Amino acid sequence: MSLEELNKAYIEAKGKLEEALRRAEVYGKIIGFVSRLAPSRIGSDGSLVQFEVDPLEYFRSHEEVSVAGSYLATVDVKTGEIVSLRIKSVERRDVMSELGIPEAIALQTQLDASGLVTRARVIAEPLLAWNPENDEVKAAAYVIEPQSPIIKPNPEVFEKILGLPKEGVVLGLLAIGEKPLKVKVKLPLHALYQHMLVLGTTGAGKTTFIKNFIVALLNKLNFSVEEGYEPTVVVLDSTKDYVHMVLESFWKQEKGFETEEFIAKEVFGDIKNVSKATIVIPVTKQLCEKLREYGKKVGAKMETVDDYLKVLGKYYVETSYLSIIEKILNGNIESINVKVEGFGPLRRINTELLYSILNVKRRINLTLIPYAFSFREVKGSELAVLNPFLTSQARDHLPRIITALEEHGFRLTTLSEFLETLREALFRKGSEAYSIVFSRLGIHKGTVENIIRSLGILDDSGIFDVILGNEIIGEPNLNIILENAKNELIIVDLAFLKENVPLVSGNIENVVALRVLYKVFMWKMIRYAERARTQPTIVVVDEAHRFFPATGGGEGEYVVQVSNMLATIARLGRARRLSIIFATHSPKDVHEIVLQLANTKIVFRMDPAVIDKLDIPSEHKHLISRIRDRFALVKTHALRLGYVLICTPLPVAGHFDLSVM
Ligand SMILES: Nc1ncnc2c1ncn2[C@@H]1O[C@H](COP(=O)(O)OP(=O)(O)OP(=O)(O)O)[C@@H](O)[C@H]1O
Ligand SMILES: [Mg+2]
Repeated sequence: MSLEELNKAYIEAKGKLEEALRRAEVYGKIIGFVSRLAPSRIGSDGSLVQFEVDPLEYFRSHEEVSVAGSYLATVDVKTGEIVSLRIKSVERRDVMSELGIPEAIALQTQLDASGLVTRARVIAEPLLAWNPENDEVKAAAYVIEPQSPIIKPNPEVFEKILGLPKEGVVLGLLAIGEKPLKVKVKLPLHALYQHMLVLGTTGAGKTTFIKNFIVALLNKLNFSVEEGYEPTVVVLDSTKDYVHMVLESFWKQEKGFETEEFIAKEVFGDIKNVSKATIVIPVTKQLCEKLREYGKKVGAKMETVDDYLKVLGKYYVETSYLSIIEKILNGNIESINVKVEGFGPLRRINTELLYSILNVKRRINLTLIPYAFSFREVKGSELAVLNPFLTSQARDHLPRIITALEEHGFRLTTLSEFLETLREALFRKGSEAYSIVFSRLGIHKGTVENIIRSLGILDDSGIFDVILGNEIIGEPNLNIILENAKNELIIVDLAFLKENVPLVSGNIENVVALRVLYKVFMWKMIRYAERARTQPTIVVVDEAHRFFPATGGGEGEYVVQVSNMLATIARLGRARRLSIIFATHSPKDVHEIVLQLANTKIVFRMDPAVIDKLDIPSEHKHLISRIRDRFALVKTHALRLGYVLICTPLPVAGHFDLSVM
């Protein structure tokens, strides 16, 4: 190379280095430079860059620099592009180590702070390269130049260099190690239709995350939808957690409180809880008894169905909210107004609860939907799909049995009557029922036994053929409710059901939960067939292991039926804008199908022994096993890097630990 060429190369390099330094100042804060001693590399086994951070800067920026897995950036001298870096390893050495002082001499030395004044050596992996001139982001597929400035990027730069989606439902703030940044991480709606699984040990923040996510969904943070297509959220609530969302949020002031407020402010601004909801409340015979007593106590008229429902409205609001408002929020109930509207399957109880905290008035509006089954309404093929405990033979034969019995003059108006007739067939050889079921239809004894046992669960629970005053309560018209629930929260109160069934009855909550899920799915299917567009619908299944247990975790037949149903719903739901959010403790507890179906996983703190099931890179595994509450790893196809760390604040909607009351 001629001297002239060398000189040209020098001038070119000098210009580029100066430009890189200028850019570095614009897009972040310089904390070091790519090493002049150790090489940067790219090869078939990936790429890496090595850099040093001066001691003073190291002590100031250690939160970003000393944590494996956290992110920094560099401005590559040759391209001028901003390249994200993930820290793979960091080395710290004392001066003595740097100088290679022999062990024998080291024995006599004292502690000496000056020994710490050494540079930190970092090895990092280049990820994505952002070109600020044309705003393009691509994989950083080139080697990084020595002397390229290393920066702590400004928050807005992070969104670019990590390839974060510009629009989507906000999941929380980007976290570097355990530090939140002013960068929102969003999940596009289309990714949501590929379903989500939230994992983490008890108290790690799953329910908190979902509640905050629901608030984001209902406030359209930070996504847009066509007018008239605002999302609907349906929650299968088995713990009352979500019923409490309409109450004021209340945080115990603990350590790190400022961080929580910072995250909440950045993500939600002034947006607070949701103060209205539609709550589906299962009605049983046992509840009916309670209402009668309660009605007597408050001197209410108890004749018509509307009288009963009015009492139910008051009873429900009182038992669900009163003690929390008075004991935890230190508030006062001002009034409860109840009005029953509509008829039959469109009946609803409109309630308005006014309360005050420190003289500030609050209002909650709830639309309560009574939910029960009437044998007459479901005795055709519906009854067969209603109960996941039925074997497939039982499912096939059930409608035939009912039809044949009715043709022979059996009066089957209630589930109890039908079960009575089946028992007669089973136990009284020679009876008419016996000859119809076994001789004429040729049904197996085992099938009849399965029907009696499975439908017996429904009958024992008292949710069938409940008479309130002058009317049998049947299933509400969920299609119409869903159609009109844009931008609304619908909660199915399964905990209330559990409170109002005999102790020994089987798992009726699961029957109701799956029925509602199925109905939401059918509504989507019907509307789709009619070529009608429906709004995005997000079904939340917290404590998912209760409904979708791992194989061997429940009755064999149940697990098979339910996982098949779930697979169909999840698969067909995609094109129909139906999304399911599951939450559970460990991937071991829940059915395999849930892990397969959920393309987005939000992983809060978890036992390292079970993380392996999730296919998470090793540098994140360590972090996840120790990370603090409400910080989580997001793993999703919707992110260019596949992974990102986020944090969510304490719940911005009401969330209460009832065990303290
Ligand atoms: N209002 C609040 N004030 C203070 N801390 C709270 C509040 N609400 C929740 N927390 C804390 O936040 C953490 C997360 O609670 P959360 O109920 O979300 O956990 P979870 O993962 O759903 O647990 P589980 O598996 O038991 O349902 C807990 O450590 C809890 O103590
Ligand atoms: Mg929870």
